[in-house]
Amino acid sequence: MRVWMFRTWKTASFCFLRNLCMRRRLRKGGDSINSFMAWVGGKKALRDEILARFPRNYKRYIEVFGGAGWVLFHKPPGNDFEVFNDFNGNLVNLYRCVREQPEALRRAILPRIKDGAVVFDGLMLDSSRYDCIKIIACGSSYHVGMVGKYNLEKLARIPVEVVLASEFRYCDPIIDSRTLVVVISQSGETLDTMAALREAKSLGARILSIVNVVGSSIARESDDVLYTWAGPEIAVATTKAYSTQMAVLDLLAIYLAGQRKTITAEDMRRLTSAIAALPAQVEQILSNREQIQYYASQYFNHDSVFFIGRNLDYALGMEGSLKLKEISYIHSEAYASGELKHGTISLIEPGTLVVALGSYTPLFDKAMSNVIEVKARGASVLALATESHRAEMESRVDGILTIPDTELMFLPLLGVVPLQLFAYYVALQRGCDIDKPRNLAKSVTVE
Ligand code: G6P
Repeated sequence: MRVWMFRTWKTASFCFLRNLCMRRRLRKGGDSINSFMAWVGGKKALRDEILARFPRNYKRYIEVFGGAGWVLFHKPPGNDFEVFNDFNGNLVNLYRCVREQPEALRRAILPRIKDGAVVFDGLMLDSSRYDCIKIIACGSSYHVGMVGKYNLEKLARIPVEVVLASEFRYCDPIIDSRTLVVVISQSGETLDTMAALREAKSLGARILSIVNVVGSSIARESDDVLYTWAGPEIAVATTKAYSTQMAVLDLLAIYLAGQRKTITAEDMRRLTSAIAALPAQVEQILSNREQIQYYASQYFNHDSVFFIGRNLDYALGMEGSLKLKEISYIHSEAYASGELKHGTISLIEPGTLVVALGSYTPLFDKAMSNVIEVKARGASVLALATESHRAEMESRVDGILTIPDTELMFLPLLGVVPLQLFAYYVALQRGCDIDKPRNLAKSVTVE
């Protein structure tokens, strides 16, 4: 594993960046970035190693050591430059997909909201015909299902079970025509998910799928399909497909709650207006990415990370942890915070990184007490909180990622964005092949 020399002093973190490629979107020529290009000798940074520092007090994220001393890379007003290539100079598709999320979410959400209500063109779903919902999926799509369970049960008051497709196939499932099966898949080709769909169908269930790839096998074999319209996703690890799947499942929860009259027309208006605001809120999070990169520079050489959270934050932690281990190869686990005392806390020792998710405001105090608990055992804590709870959390932790406040059910959709960026920047610093992590495939079409 390639880890560069890394030091943290009081005022800044230092590291060597290897083959760093920096470009900016050109608007007007003639500013500091051009002199940097000259210094490194061309359009791409060709020097093997560049000493860089990330000063704590600067909003701008990098200073690079040049012949005449430290060169500060100012971001000229209105201009935008950033590291978007990996250390071999290749464009990182995963990062591009992360950045495309606002647009993808607009496509997934906006056409489905009319006059303060959720509308699915062509969907004929009479929810009174179903006693329960089973969500079947693999990988990140399964994590979307975990978030969906909390939201569907809370809003539409219908029992939901989330099952891994690979387990469902062999568990002799209890399913009949009064079961609505929701299948979630980005590719629409995952073999285990496909086999589970066929099993559920043969038992008489109605199949509603949430799929990204139009015309895929799962889409074709389902009774109803809700497309996510995320667009092609090239990187193996999913980002924009995950968030659009979640948006569609959230819309389904609101739609079913409206049908089952478990929410009022006023609730419906409030929720639809909040979900329509999410793309702009994701943009806001993306614009703060320098802060996230700074934390990545602090923690990229950790060997083991624990994500902890409760309720929606637990489901979110599952995805945050998966993203980190998939692309950075850091050992990472997600736990429901309440389970810490049942074993995991024995693994916390001085310096262990704990990502404490405290965005679910009704359980913020519980999240805080878990932070205190792991801090007392010497853990370094990077927390996630909403802006309204930032100040309270900040005083207790080593680093904080924040998201804008929104309706509770949408918090994981915002929360995942800083976690994706954190995983990306950590993997970038470790020199990993971010788009094609070892041993993984985009679509798993074998058992
Ligand atoms: C692979 C991908 C994951 C994805 C999972 C399920 O493991 O690397 O990103 O979540 O398959 O794929 P699906 O296409 O069914 O969502």
